[in-house]
Amino acid sequence: MAERKGGKKLKLGVLISGRGSNLQALIDASANPDYPAEIALVVSNVPGAKGLERCRQPGIATAVINHKDFEDRESFEAELDKTLRAQGVELVCLAGFMRLLTDTFVNGWRDRLINIHPSLLPAFKGLNTQARAVEAGVRFAGCTVHYVRPAMDDGPIIVQAAVPVHADDDADTLAARILTQEHRIYPLAVRLIAEGRVRVAGERVLIDGAQSAEETLINPAER
Ligand code: GRF
Repeated sequence: MAERKGGKKLKLGVLISGRGSNLQALIDASANPDYPAEIALVVSNVPGAKGLERCRQPGIATAVINHKDFEDRESFEAELDKTLRAQGVELVCLAGFMRLLTDTFVNGWRDRLINIHPSLLPAFKGLNTQARAVEAGVRFAGCTVHYVRPAMDDGPIIVQAAVPVHADDDADTLAARILTQEHRIYPLAVRLIAEGRVRVAGERVLIDGAQSAEETLINPAER
């Protein structure tokens, strides 16, 4: 994505279906005047989704496009696409949006459509990732922000955060630990994109000026 000219903020369209805590993280980040992106529109496919309420106080434009009002996926997505473009959206952020998108939509927004997923992709695609991570006995879990490709939970990885899985974790305690990190990495990924520092090269993401984390995490700790 080209660098932003003249301090213009990148216009985000955030798609939600539910509670919208990742949307909140983006709202909070964009409240900072130095943040290089702004939310132009929030779209929910679920009327009354809690995330919509979060837009009221900051005065963010919202739309409800209920998939149940459409005959098929294509017509639902055509409306979604039209609404996003009409609002000048430049980057679409899926934030707990619980509809699978067709290849047409995904390819129409190629490299301008990102998602946050509560696992260290490519492990644990799909639903109930935290319960499956506990069940599998992995020592680390985490979350991923990635560009969206037509296959589910697939696409070039932009940012990941890893968290330890504790021996007494259940799906809920692990999900809470991961969610805290989701709220850090989604605004981070959007900022990197808005700063024009993110490039996709051969389905890998390169980030200009990115410092890699130095520490090795070992779980359980060596003691
Ligand atoms: C998050 O765990 C996100 O990673 C996943 O759906 C959940 C949405 O939560 N894609 P919220 O609506 O942002 O609170």
